[in-house]
Amino acid sequence: ANKRRHSSDSEPEPEGESSGSEEEKKEEKQEIEKPSASNVNSAGKPEEGTKKPVVSHQAAPAAPAASSKPSCKPAVFVPVDRSPEIQEARLKLPILAEEQVIMEAINENPIVVICGETGSGKTTQVPQFLYEAGYTSSNGIIGITEPRRVAAVSMSQRVAKEMNLSHRVVSYQIRYEGNTTDETQIKFMTDGVLLKEVQKDFLLSKYKVIIIDEAHERSMYTDILIGLLSRIVPLREKKGLPLKLIIMSATLRVEDFTENTRLFAGTPPVLQVDARQFPVTVHFNKKTPLDDYSGECFRKVCKIHRMLPSGGILVFLTGQAEVHSLCRRLRKAFPFQKNSTAGDDDDERKESVEEMRKFKKSRRRKKATTLPRINLDNYAVVPVDEGDEDRDAETDDDIAGSDVDLDLGDGDSEEEEKSDSSLPLYVLPLYSLLAPEKQAKVFRPPPPGTRLCVVATNVAETSLTIPGIKYVVDCGKVKKRFYDKITGVSSFRVTWISQASANQRAGRAGRTEPGHCYRLYSSAVFMDFEKFSAPEITKRPVEDLILQMKALNIEKVINFPFPTPPPTEALAAAEELLIALGALKEPPMTGRLKEQQAAKLSCPISPLGRVMATFPVAPRYAKMLALSRQHDCLPYTITIVSAMTVRELFEEFDRPAASEEETVKLKGKKGRLVQMQRIWAGQGSLQKLGDLMVMLGAVGACEYSGCTPKFCEENGLRYKAMLEIRRLRGQLTTAVNSVCTDAGLYVDPKMKPPTEAQATYLRQIVLAGLGDHLARRVQAEELLDDKWKNAYKTALLDDPVFIHPSSVLFKQLPEFVVYQEIVETTKLYMKGVSAVEPEWIPALLPPYCHFGKPLENPPPSYCPETGRIRCHRPSVFYRVSWQLPAVEVD
Ligand code: CDP
Ligand code: MG
Repeated sequence: ANKRRHSSDSEPEPEGESSGSEEEKKEEKQEIEKPSASNVNSAGKPEEGTKKPVVSHQAAPAAPAASSKPSCKPAVFVPVDRSPEIQEARLKLPILAEEQVIMEAINENPIVVICGETGSGKTTQVPQFLYEAGYTSSNGIIGITEPRRVAAVSMSQRVAKEMNLSHRVVSYQIRYEGNTTDETQIKFMTDGVLLKEVQKDFLLSKYKVIIIDEAHERSMYTDILIGLLSRIVPLREKKGLPLKLIIMSATLRVEDFTENTRLFAGTPPVLQVDARQFPVTVHFNKKTPLDDYSGECFRKVCKIHRMLPSGGILVFLTGQAEVHSLCRRLRKAFPFQKNSTAGDDDDERKESVEEMRKFKKSRRRKKATTLPRINLDNYAVVPVDEGDEDRDAETDDDIAGSDVDLDLGDGDSEEEEKSDSSLPLYVLPLYSLLAPEKQAKVFRPPPPGTRLCVVATNVAETSLTIPGIKYVVDCGKVKKRFYDKITGVSSFRVTWISQASANQRAGRAGRTEPGHCYRLYSSAVFMDFEKFSAPEITKRPVEDLILQMKALNIEKVINFPFPTPPPTEALAAAEELLIALGALKEPPMTGRLKEQQAAKLSCPISPLGRVMATFPVAPRYAKMLALSRQHDCLPYTITIVSAMTVRELFEEFDRPAASEEETVKLKGKKGRLVQMQRIWAGQGSLQKLGDLMVMLGAVGACEYSGCTPKFCEENGLRYKAMLEIRRLRGQLTTAVNSVCTDAGLYVDPKMKPPTEAQATYLRQIVLAGLGDHLARRVQAEELLDDKWKNAYKTALLDDPVFIHPSSVLFKQLPEFVVYQEIVETTKLYMKGVSAVEPEWIPALLPPYCHFGKPLENPPPSYCPETGRIRCHRPSVFYRVSWQLPAVEVD
């Protein structure tokens, strides 16, 4: 591919590259931390008359902020050599008609918002417009961010193909993976990748244009990027290196960006691209929605395929596992190719009973007599500049392992499912983690004489437009990450979508001709959907985000121009946790309470915090990783963190059984699992690691056996969870290697069990990370009433909590434990429990301990999240318990 850089167009070299002077850094910081003051009056409301109307596609007026700034319209036109077919397909896209209007608006304004129906050509065409207009002809490239990895990869491939350029020029970068080169001029990436780049070079000097795509998704990183860019753009302007920001969105709710006076000084122009949309007839189900929506999808597709005229079918499901099982079922019902995409499933290796036995035997080590101690200051993983991992897995819609497996097995009579349709069905899966080559298949026309049927997660909702879809089958559900208000621990859950999403999904059927959308829920249920889904940032704990921002030296997080700010309590809670973890420097405890509180909300990051910020996991887990370089603990910590992230490692056998026979069977299986868990828990110090040792043991044993479905089935493990843990271990190992380049870690699936000493270190590492999840058993002499029998007292809750009966420490009742999470059923139960030696607490959790005189009357405060009154500082509890007088239980 020819490199189209025009030397005639001499632009000054960017001066303030990554390592700018202290002076510049200060300026950057001030710029971020001050609220955008212009056109905000004293009441904080926009002044009358400064609001700009939404601009349609006539003239694009200059934004007020841009006034008298030199227009940076590039002088050259860069020709692109497209094939006639591509050119023809492009001309059909609605956005082509708007090219001139769009380019004028971009030339005249530093910030432009483009709204357009999915499929109108925003993602594929706008970068090409910019390229042709010469935006990359001198130094500087075009960057496009996507909230989803699948979109970043697939769009870069598509644009390269359309422009007839190589992947060296039109490239992508997603976490741990990419094909960018020195020649790259158009770079697609996930939002997390760009956020990491801001950490290295605040001004993003190498970019001429940044396009934030899919802004309507309101992913947390997209929101933060928009906030950051609202400050970076004026800074670049000041330096005479103007940066263009283009925000692209599918749905119309852009007011959070355009009318937010904290964000931009003046409303940026909003360009509306009208897409041709054919009418879509929406069919609701009459019945109340079924739990078995996957089965319902199957029946619907069968019906459509047998009875309705040709046209592609797009099915929306919630996760990878469901997608695969529906694909399998459809392929079976409408056989097409023997081995189309079937080979996705895992190679089955032989399980080695002998090795398994060795593994168990080697665990029985003799007990260490002394308790060695980890060194808290030893987080000797030095951050290097290449760290470009991001956290986009967290925004992923379909992480396996958290999949809800619907038993599609053989329940239905396959007879009935056999097709009598003469047309073969060409079934393809589509989800985020699908290999790029397999993803690309959905864009190609199906083999002649077949009907295309794509079974997708909600990646197909707005990120990707599949050609030729006439029928949409919408299960009405989506898999989302939810956060536990008490513990902050997240889990994936399947919930109803929003009305906006349902309409987006329906819209996919009317791209090329009138279509039909089959909703597997009633219209009454639809009316109960929320209108839009809330921005991610308002729904989750923000400690990981705050850590990332602090790593950007944004100290006064509260002043950050969030498009939608998270609740102040969430910010305060995050800051408090990060201080306790040692990721932030604690403010001096002097001055008045008010000043102290203010100082607390603007703490700078500590060296440990910088190390933690480089790991793509939540701060509690990041701290564990940061401390694990000692005593070769890293592989174990990586495994524990992966297992804690995946959760639900074990099958659930406590479900109600259908028959006597099944009850016996379940009981047997459960007995076997409990027995295995006891073996996996080991002895001595290993056993004290508790449930975390069981996780380690289960993963180790499973990998020893070759990680087969058979082994998992026989031992009560969830096969999917095991595969997911393996994947996460690989990813985390890569992340650790990229941070600590000399560690030379590799994933050894069959790791040896930890030694006694290592297990002790691991317990301390876990304590250091989960410090705020410490609990102490209420002693007999402290019992106030019966409800506190065998109960534990935690820092966060006033109520008694208990060790979950499934825990291996259930009967042992150690005095101090840390837990992974608390679940509420009949009682409050701690899960993922590990025992702690009391003498470690003051050494490893100094922020939680006060050794002076106890406060007479600790000020109570109301916790809005839990609705409970709690002590002002958790340390009150620890101090009391550490000195071992009575625990406060009233
Ligand atoms: O971003 P927006 O939703 O506005 O549209 P787009 O993703 O740029 O898609 C424009 C068109 O390109 C659609 O009709 C897609 O089907 C098509 N496309 C394709 O054929 N192959 C791809 N790999 C990507 C897009
Ligand atoms: Mg798009």
